[in-house]
Amino acid sequence: MIDNKYNLGFFPTPLQELSRLSKKYPDYNIFIKRDDNTGLASGGNKTRKLEYLIKQALDENCDTIITAGAQQSNHCRQTAAACAIAGLKCHLLLGGTKPEVYDGNLLLSSILGAEIHFTAENRKGEDGEKLKNKLENTGSKCFVIPYGGSNFTGAMGFVSAAKELKEQLIEQKLKIDYIFFASSSGGMQAGLTLGKEIYQLDSELIPISIDKEELNGLSLEEVVLNLVEEGTQKLNVNKKFQLSDIKLIRDYDEDGYGVVTANEINAISELARNEGVLLDPVYTARAFYGMLNYLNEKRIPANSNILFWHTGGLPAIFKYAKELK
Ligand SMILES: Cc1ncc(COP(=O)(O)O)c(C=O)c1O
Repeated sequence: MIDNKYNLGFFPTPLQELSRLSKKYPDYNIFIKRDDNTGLASGGNKTRKLEYLIKQALDENCDTIITAGAQQSNHCRQTAAACAIAGLKCHLLLGGTKPEVYDGNLLLSSILGAEIHFTAENRKGEDGEKLKNKLENTGSKCFVIPYGGSNFTGAMGFVSAAKELKEQLIEQKLKIDYIFFASSSGGMQAGLTLGKEIYQLDSELIPISIDKEELNGLSLEEVVLNLVEEGTQKLNVNKKFQLSDIKLIRDYDEDGYGVVTANEINAISELARNEGVLLDPVYTARAFYGMLNYLNEKRIPANSNILFWHTGGLPAIFKYAKELK
């Protein structure tokens, strides 16, 4: 199952030490996993999910992909790129109304050839089945990818990412104690949770919640648990997960999805000016801020090895030029 994918990216992504930042936080050794370098129209974590999702779409002889997100959705931009590579048509259902000027991810999705539908208050795929029916009435065969690419197939991308990390840790003779990352639609978290179990990854996951809204009436913890339960059956994982096993840090999402505050802006400057690495304003900046806050408040034991999993998203930075200048 792990090999049942369509190659779209550059793997393994680099695992590097952030040596200048580690000096600033002398109690910790800080590392970064560079999924901002996965390729697929400027990188990001969705490349991993799309390798499995696009394979399934091709196996089912579909010719059209439908997916959804916010106007600055990285998932939608990367889906548009994946469709271009695989020769599939791409329809994107994006929240809000058509802006006068396209920028950031929206601009890239359009350049990549996606057909864009603006869906007002719906940004999580509520209109997917309706569009599928309409397109199939005119002869298309559609494959609907859920919001964020977060179903079991998409989560497989992060089961295999756990394997990739485990191999890098063995090769670099390194132990990582804690892994911080942004969690929003749950696929990455579910995949890493399963992969950690399957490949005996000896690190604690610290997912930082980005979006406080529910998804289809479920909390993010419930979404992740459902995906993990499906995965334990399909992958024969011998562990019964409970809701209490699904950790999620809710301390940093109170301003709401896509709202950029001084916290995100400071996190972007801190990593950019110490290490020359750029974060995105919506996901990775919030997660990185959360991680630094944990370290500043010494909520992690001294001498721990910390990994920040950079999940990409750079194009959205241009949408927030006013806040960031
Ligand atoms: C840059 C970035 N980081 C993290 C995430 C969160 O991943 P997931 O949706 O699997 O929780 C996303 C999802 O859109 C993203 O675009």
